[in-house]
Amino acid sequence: MLAQALVDSGCDGRVATFELNPENADIAGKNVKAAGLDEHVKLQVGDRRQLIEAALQNEIDLHFAFIGASHFYDEVTVEFELISPKPAPDALVLFDNSYRTEEDGKDPRVKALSGRS
Ligand SMILES: C[S@@+](CC[C@H](N)C(=O)[O-])C[C@H]1O[C@@H](n2cnc3c(N)ncnc32)[C@H](O)[C@@H]1O
Repeated sequence: MLAQALVDSGCDGRVATFELNPENADIAGKNVKAAGLDEHVKLQVGDRRQLIEAALQNEIDLHFAFIGASHFYDEVTVEFELISPKPAPDALVLFDNSYRTEEDGKDPRVKALSGRS
């Protein structure tokens, strides 16, 4: 979807994505190819904690990031810190820190946002 948005908006750029599970990566790669977007997506199989740093060394600017591998606050924070040296001034970084943290009672801000006490 992100790659299609790049194409549709006429932006010159590409999507770098990282997947730990080879089966998931295989499905994702097939979907990207079926959508005709393979030249706009670089899919790497492995742990994003190792791959992001290396990938960012080769990129000029980071304009958008979606942090979606984990919903745990600590892991989102680690990933945010990995990308933090690189965002362009107008960069948008999205993540969802959701149900798991609330269920575990680890992040009171999630409860605050959902209006529960
Ligand atoms: C919650 S799913 C989200 C998938 C996708 N972001 C989406 O929104 O549809 C998390 C995915 O991240 C992968 N993942 C989990 N830990 C990872 C890691 N350390 N490095 C790379 N991928 C990871 C999982 O295998 C899984 O496919």
